[in-house]
Amino acid sequence: MVSMTKTPPRIRLAQLPTPLVFLERLTRKMGGPRIYVKRDDLTGSWLTGNKVRKLEFSIAEAQAQGCDTIITCGAVQSNHCRATVLACASLGMKVHLILRGEEPVQPDGNNLLDYVGGAHISYHARDVYKRHLCEIANSLKEKHAAEGHKAFFIPSGASDGIGCWGYIHAAEELKRDFATHGIEPTCIICATGSGGTQSGLVLGKALHGLSQDIVGINICDDEKWFRDKITDDMTEWRKLYHQSFDVESLPINIIDGHVGPGYGEATPDVFETIKMVARLEGLILDPVYTGKAFNGMLKEIAKGRFTSSDTIVFIHTGGIFGLLAQREKHDFKA
Ligand SMILES: Cc1ncc(COP(=O)(O)O)c(C=O)c1O
Repeated sequence: MVSMTKTPPRIRLAQLPTPLVFLERLTRKMGGPRIYVKRDDLTGSWLTGNKVRKLEFSIAEAQAQGCDTIITCGAVQSNHCRATVLACASLGMKVHLILRGEEPVQPDGNNLLDYVGGAHISYHARDVYKRHLCEIANSLKEKHAAEGHKAFFIPSGASDGIGCWGYIHAAEELKRDFATHGIEPTCIICATGSGGTQSGLVLGKALHGLSQDIVGINICDDEKWFRDKITDDMTEWRKLYHQSFDVESLPINIIDGHVGPGYGEATPDVFETIKMVARLEGLILDPVYTGKAFNGMLKEIAKGRFTSSDTIVFIHTGGIFGLLAQREKHDFKA
């Protein structure tokens, strides 16, 4: 049985509730399911996106443990890292980022904002990052301890048992949205990049009794990788918060096949979709996460996976600064 036995610490960072918006022109153009967007890109301005919901719990846990410094990690253009830097700055906390890849000559997008927000940053080659992330984080913790600071490590994307709470709460918010709009959607779709948004939604569906299928469109890796990762996040959540129900029985739906060349790399049709949606609905998507997943969703609609009797809710998880960092990849003037 599902119960809320232990309420986690939380600090308010996100502007909530975010709006649920019907995309009338796109729905007409597709001639298929009714498409709504949950505007989690409006959780803030520089604090835009899904990470803000998760960080409300991850940073609160760090503070509850007496930490004044956050160490976190991700790609050079990580939205999660940028959100962590700016959220922590607003709370008077220090941040050290462990970034995967080379130090850019000219910082842009999220990475530029990391610097503006005063982050300490170390860059590591992909293979070093992949093999030695734990050791790097531990040695940074020791370094900060020697300087009189207590550091807390948040994993990539704040996707872990603590971060799950962000989208457990979002599921409850969506339930209220559906009642307000008088709709009963068939599914909720999100871009899945490190798994925490989907883990939270899957748990939130069980906790709050949502009828919708929770569907992730993976933007990197593959279905198997995300099944394991989401199961791990939910299992950790169950242990941390003393839940007795069997998380392994919860359905994990992944639509694979839209990754393209790899993480952070989009095919020209993704950029065309970004342009089309911006011009038709005034909605900005990004090439790394939301644009790739949204493009995948439109392709699945075109293939007939969703029909005109369906209502889909796409979670817009933010990412605008990632689009700015890929300005040279597409001719947006055309
Ligand atoms: C804009 C954006 N959308 C979606 C995702 C994917 O969310 P998650 O990491 O929780 O799977 C991320 C981060 O990975 C993101 O930055």
